[in-house]
Amino acid sequence: MKVVIPAAGAGKRLYPHTYTKPKPMVYVAGKPIIGHILDKAVDLRPDELIIVVGYMKEKLIDYVDEHYSDIFKKITYVNQEQQLGLGHSIYVAREAIGDHPIMIALGDMIFKGGYSDFAKLHACNGKCSGSIGVKEIDNPSRYGIVYHDGDGRIEKLVEKPRESTSHTGIAGVYFIEDTPALISALEQLMNSPRKGEVQLTDALQLAIQAGSNYRTFEVSSWYDCGRPESLLEVNRLLLAEKTRSSWKPRNSLLIEPVCIGQDVEIENSIIGPNVSISDGARITSSIIEDSIIGSHAEIRRMALRSSIVGDGAILSGKANSLNIGDSSTIEF
Ligand code: G1P
Repeated sequence: MKVVIPAAGAGKRLYPHTYTKPKPMVYVAGKPIIGHILDKAVDLRPDELIIVVGYMKEKLIDYVDEHYSDIFKKITYVNQEQQLGLGHSIYVAREAIGDHPIMIALGDMIFKGGYSDFAKLHACNGKCSGSIGVKEIDNPSRYGIVYHDGDGRIEKLVEKPRESTSHTGIAGVYFIEDTPALISALEQLMNSPRKGEVQLTDALQLAIQAGSNYRTFEVSSWYDCGRPESLLEVNRLLLAEKTRSSWKPRNSLLIEPVCIGQDVEIENSIIGPNVSISDGARITSSIIEDSIIGSHAEIRRMALRSSIVGDGAILSGKANSLNIGDSSTIEF
């Protein structure tokens, strides 16, 4: 099996962090998002890892080559020059895919457990054209929606419907056995007049109309890294899965879970819980909770909670000097 990771998008929902790096390179719980995704794909032992790159691709390629070229058998990067949608990103990878079975894992979704657990669920579905990971969701207009027959056989798929009787959302992990049928559906969409992006959901729907047989499997928990508010939640959840840090700071207190990168300096501070600090950051006289701190950031005299601080950012607070009478109440 080959693994395809579409990772070309600009990640506008994560501005300002994605002004300077692609979304899969945004740091969370000790490494970039793409690192967590690849760690969870290792167990699958794919014949080839195909990463579709685009926006600021060099940063992503450098990171993956440095950390994963010895781990995966073969890594191929496919360039998606124009970002015309998720379906288009699979279409541009068609030569690398050939007629092999594939697993598609979206570049901004992290799942609890490894992808090999999903591969087992797909295998349990028996002979079919493919299986799609799904989860019950509250807001169908934000996801691809699946209508199934109650026995897991998919009858219809609709991308982000305004209204829907089904609340079964597409979770962002797909196993495709019949890749030629999917590629031919994508080709049909590429060649038809359309408004907006080429959706993978629409191509799967076309394949089903042409006779493909798709089934679902349940995804219990997913971490959506696509928005700042959910990124902090992802940070919390992934840190809870990690082993405790053995790092001992000078005159400071670490409240686990925390993840501290290399060459980080922390002095006179309280760090944690749920804090990731990337390489080379310097923290002095600060209290930081539930936050992600980028590499080489400098933080002095700050009290931070639920914050995301970019690489190289400098934050310097002022200590207040007060002369307060008895029984006063002052809130900053
Ligand atoms: C994409 C897919 C959608 C799926 C979602 C999962 O949408 O098009 O079908 O439900 O990922 O996150 P996006 O989040 O890229 O808009």
